[in-house]
Amino acid sequence: MTKPKLFIARKLRDVVEARAARDYEVILNPEDRLFSREALIATCRAVDAVLPCHSERFDAGVIAELGPRLKIIANHSVGTDHVDLAAAKAAGIVVTNTPDVLSDATAEIAMLCMLGAARRGAEGDAMIRAGKWDFWSPAFMVGRQVTGKRFGVLGMGRVGQVTADRARGFGMEVHYHNRRRLPDHLEKGAVFHDTLEGLLAVSDVLSLHCPSTPQNAGIINAVTLAQLPQRAILVNTARGGLVDEAALVAALTSGQLFAAGLDVFQTEPGGNPALAALPNVFLLPHIGSATEETRDAMGFRALDNLDAFFAGAEPGDRVA
Ligand code: 8YV
Repeated sequence: MTKPKLFIARKLRDVVEARAARDYEVILNPEDRLFSREALIATCRAVDAVLPCHSERFDAGVIAELGPRLKIIANHSVGTDHVDLAAAKAAGIVVTNTPDVLSDATAEIAMLCMLGAARRGAEGDAMIRAGKWDFWSPAFMVGRQVTGKRFGVLGMGRVGQVTADRARGFGMEVHYHNRRRLPDHLEKGAVFHDTLEGLLAVSDVLSLHCPSTPQNAGIINAVTLAQLPQRAILVNTARGGLVDEAALVAALTSGQLFAAGLDVFQTEPGGNPALAALPNVFLLPHIGSATEETRDAMGFRALDNLDAFFAGAEPGDRVA
């Protein structure tokens, strides 16, 4: 039986590529170059399946060009905002993602962002690297302690729930806003707020875990930032599009927000120079799921979805 032809759009870990090469006729990207829109379309037109990351955009225009051969987009990501799901569905292309396997890694990065922001991690690191640590006093580099504070989760899905568990480990009181209230065994005593405003009012730390849908674009903006307690901390490990970055810069500059810990930005790669210029922002380059264990698990999960599809079964993580 001929193997299905699979395009793996970015360089994945060796074990993942080896399994893929065993079961598929693969087109790999050993130099890990970013394909242009045209090259992405041309390559996808010649294969049965593509395994992309969030760095490959499948908007309606791209999907319209993919032609009759491509059957499935098996994403190497939990987020699917880079794929127009309605267009894929209309074109008869199956779309899958990789939930669950990256929740722990992303929750760890959310804690790193929270602590980096609360305890002035970026300032301290930069000071030593610049050779400017020439002074110490009890009043020096005093940050905010998170123990005993209220941890607000916007979007209590898989990642939000694991992140809430980690925050509980820091002695924080968990609050959340979600489309639906969770059952007791998942809520674990967290306080449900049926409005965003209700959550914002009590979030000493607000951590974003909702999907980047058109409805959620800029959900954190001048109005919503002003509803947080004075000197709150914003953590974003979800998507940059959730935040109006100009409003965030203003709130961080005025001191209305104490600090922010950010792993994601409106413009990636690159980030936002206005945010990078502020001392009270702890920055990471979209590495929420970037651990050896999680990258392997994401790759295998995407391959599991492909295997199911080509065996004629329903892929476990079908989103369109
Ligand atoms: C990855 C992500 O960096 O899963 C997501 O939605 O943003 C991250 O896990 C990326 O998509 C890896 O392909």
